[in-house]
Amino acid sequence: MAGLKVGVLISGRGSNLQALIDAAADPDFPAEIALVLSNKADAAGLARAAGAGIATAVVDHRGFPGDKPAFEAAMDARLRDAGVELVCLAGFMRLLSPWFVDAWRDWMINIHPSLLPAFKGLDTHQRALDAGVRVHGCTVHYVRSEMDVGPIIVQAAVPVLPDDDAHALAGRVLAQEHRAYPLAVRLIAEGRVRVENERVRVEGHAPDGASVLLNPAP
Ligand code: GRF
Repeated sequence: MAGLKVGVLISGRGSNLQALIDAAADPDFPAEIALVLSNKADAAGLARAAGAGIATAVVDHRGFPGDKPAFEAAMDARLRDAGVELVCLAGFMRLLSPWFVDAWRDWMINIHPSLLPAFKGLDTHQRALDAGVRVHGCTVHYVRSEMDVGPIIVQAAVPVLPDDDAHALAGRVLAQEHRAYPLAVRLIAEGRVRVENERVRVEGHAPDGASVLLNPAP
């Protein structure tokens, strides 16, 4: 592993973290995970990181009652100490303050389980079912201070099937998340992603957008 130093912020299960760990195990992958940082000591993703020999840290938000800036400053310090260049939010369940978002502007990305800008926030799969959409999916995007807003890097769509419940739909989307997140990190680490007027341009790929639209292929 070598290349762009990535810090992954988690709060729980860590299956997207696992997808990044697996991708980075390929010697040709242009990024390495320098730190996995959790706000919860019992996050299952911490064990995944430790199992892969990756440095971990816990900054528990409950240790900073009423002082969110101090919590975020502690996280920022851990990331800087580890030499992190790109922050990946992967199921990190705390809203970040504008100062932290600005400090990592265009160097912090998130994965969200919907085709943004539809279904920002929580319970995206049930809300997609309730809305009756035929197509759902996931988005990797740059982080801005408004929740689930920011320039879109990669999207992958999945069909919504007649007998789906939220669990079945979540599983279908999650399989695509595990493709989309490593792809976005790869493109950034290769230096191919630029933000222009709050839209992402990816250089060196087919003009039809093939490499940033996973499903359906253009
Ligand atoms: C994923 O669905 C991701 O899109 C959302 O939170 C979930 C995290 O899952 N932001 P995991 O911890 O990566 O398994």
